[in-house]
Amino acid sequence: MTVLAIIGGSGFSELPALQAREARRVETPYGETSAPVARGRLGETEVLFLPRHGAGHRLPPHRVNYRANVWALRECGAERVVALAAVGGITERYGPAVLGVPDQVIDYTHGREHTFFTGDDHGVDHVDMTEPYCPSLRGELLGACARLGHAVVDGGTYAATQGPRLETTAEVARLERDGCDLVGMTGMPEAALARELGLCYATLAFVVNWAAGKGEGEITMAEIERNLEVCSGRIVEILTELAG
Ligand code: HPA
Repeated sequence: MTVLAIIGGSGFSELPALQAREARRVETPYGETSAPVARGRLGETEVLFLPRHGAGHRLPPHRVNYRANVWALRECGAERVVALAAVGGITERYGPAVLGVPDQVIDYTHGREHTFFTGDDHGVDHVDMTEPYCPSLRGELLGACARLGHAVVDGGTYAATQGPRLETTAEVARLERDGCDLVGMTGMPEAALARELGLCYATLAFVVNWAAGKGEGEITMAEIERNLEVCSGRIVEILTELAG
């Protein structure tokens, strides 16, 4: 079995189910990771865990050092990476509290350090992103959900927006016209960087609100926290099943 790493998103600054044995601060050529990389057990299996927003959720999406995080996970031996992602739901099948494993992504972010291939030390390469998420890990996630009897949406296009503000109604309407099903702020450049380092990367998304203009009225933190709470138990079960 290859080493599994989990990148925790909103609501997952910690993973209490992880029996952490050590947390290692990893030096990278790109600066500091969001937090030390924790190594521990999920069920019977050793996994790595890195909270994307740092301890106590202090880093907003545009200030996450994606390159350092992805680099450090590979440095620690990760071969498969599951990215947890709290998202807004755009299309009908991605309503609140729904879990999904997207199969496509559109990058609307800007100004982020988005490549290892800067033409300096690592030269230039153009990685293939026809399928941006690792098909085998997507299959493993879907299989884990099936064994547990947890409903999950297979596929969908993730819109990666800049944040930290939420979108306008018109922006979400545009994302929908573009073919997006769900929207989050951290899916890129993370997925592309993982591909550049040859890591098998997939996202487990969970819907914490209807995206702007898709539900009733404004999006509230209370609603987001409520849905997070509803999803978190299932997510830990899925990760444990996947690791096992
Ligand atoms: N938009 C962008 N990112 C998000 C949202 C949203 O509505 N909900 C959770 N993350």
